[in-house]
Amino acid sequence: MDEKQQIGQLFDRIARTYDGLNHGLSLNIDKYWRRRTVAQMKPAKHALDVAIGTADLTIEILRRGKAEKVTGLDLSDQMMAIGKKKVEKFCSGIASGETKVTFVHGNAQEMPFEDASFDTVTCAFGCRNFSNLDAGLKEMFRVLTPGGQVTILEFSYPSNQFVRALYDFYFTRVLPAIGRMVSHDKTAYTYLNKSVKSFCWGEAFVQHLHDVGFREEHFMPLTFGIATIYVGVKPLNR
Ligand SMILES: C[S@@+](CC[C@H](N)C(=O)[O-])C[C@H]1O[C@@H](n2cnc3c(N)ncnc32)[C@H](O)[C@@H]1O
Repeated sequence: MDEKQQIGQLFDRIARTYDGLNHGLSLNIDKYWRRRTVAQMKPAKHALDVAIGTADLTIEILRRGKAEKVTGLDLSDQMMAIGKKKVEKFCSGIASGETKVTFVHGNAQEMPFEDASFDTVTCAFGCRNFSNLDAGLKEMFRVLTPGGQVTILEFSYPSNQFVRALYDFYFTRVLPAIGRMVSHDKTAYTYLNKSVKSFCWGEAFVQHLHDVGFREEHFMPLTFGIATIYVGVKPLNR
């Protein structure tokens, strides 16, 4: 089984408990992080939400009117199945009632989309799962129209020593134990911890955005740097 199948299957296994655990274990701070992320977006016609998962970011994008329609890409059909139900429920409350979200199964590192297909691209808690971060960022750059913005939300490592100690304890002890109990999956939440710790953040992440061609790149740490928003713009001449 290749790496992308493994990731897809891992998220398929935890899909049912993902939302509850996410909101419960973060004390709903993740909702605030997504709101802040969407607040950084400029209104657009067609957004691509990479690693859409259970569609929380997409729903926030629609709620804030930051895109007229959204395409979501993900490797996990089970995560998207839950996302679809949530979107249907949300869209049934929208006056026009038309389908605003399309779910596509696919790999963020080899996207099944034409160049310049979207005028904004987002990704929440997806990038650290990529086996090759630059390959994923390059694809985001490719499918964006010139002048379009990428907005990424990802876990990061706090700079304050005290917060770091609490963070380490939580991620290495509390979260894997509760995750194991609730999702009945031995590896998923240990993997989560490892993937957060071994990933880049802050200036280092911004350098990756720059290297693949984004400009006006900058970042905003949230909640003592536990999560960070990254923004970059595809230049008009590319
Ligand atoms: C932690 S969840 C985040 C989901 C959602 N964006 C959110 O904010 O809750 C990560 C998602 O990324 C997806 N994913 C991981 N690697 C991927 C890849 N290479 N291509 C597409 N989706 C991927 C997983 O299947 C999973 O649904």
